[in-house]
Amino acid sequence: MTDTLSIEVTVNGAPRALAVASHHTLLDVLRDDLALTGAKECCLVGECGACTVIIDGRTVDSCLVLAVEADGAEVLTVEGLANADGTLSPLQAAFLDKGAVQCGFCIPGQLLSAHALLEEHAHPTQGEIEEGLAGNLCRCACYVQIFEAVEAVAAGDETGPPETAAHAARSAGGAQAGARTIAEGLDQ
Ligand code: FES
Ligand code: FES
Repeated sequence: MTDTLSIEVTVNGAPRALAVASHHTLLDVLRDDLALTGAKECCLVGECGACTVIIDGRTVDSCLVLAVEADGAEVLTVEGLANADGTLSPLQAAFLDKGAVQCGFCIPGQLLSAHALLEEHAHPTQGEIEEGLAGNLCRCACYVQIFEAVEAVAAGDETGPPETAAHAARSAGGAQAGARTIAEGLDQ
């Protein structure tokens, strides 16, 4: 028989009361109970960073955190990164503009690690960017573009919704697909 425990957690600003299996990870609960599929299920051993979320301001691999450990915490997932009006945040816009997204699988985790980095260091050095994103692997090897996106935000080059020249120059379909990936993660 599975033990079920009650937890209260704030996810992307919304308080949630949940009954979770004692052995389920935070990643299980986000994806299966809350239908927040931005955090990705990949290695499940803390190696790839695809499942990265932010708990109380710290990035964690949600595949390594039991859901019950998040009781009382504030959790931020990629679905909570956009501006209140639904437009992409400057960081999300920068990922689009710099072409930092190929398959998109790693992007939710990359965005959250970059977000946490910029919260801690508004103007990170190249070394701090590399270190801050070291736990997030990209099988498409978009590292240069991802670093450029973080640098652009740190430099104040990305301040608003994503209708920049580079963004507008892309095909409407491609831009929409990229924007959805960045806003919600792939539906995987
Ligand atoms: S799925 Fe969690 S670190 Fe890879
Ligand atoms: S964009 Fe494909 S894994 Fe990073």
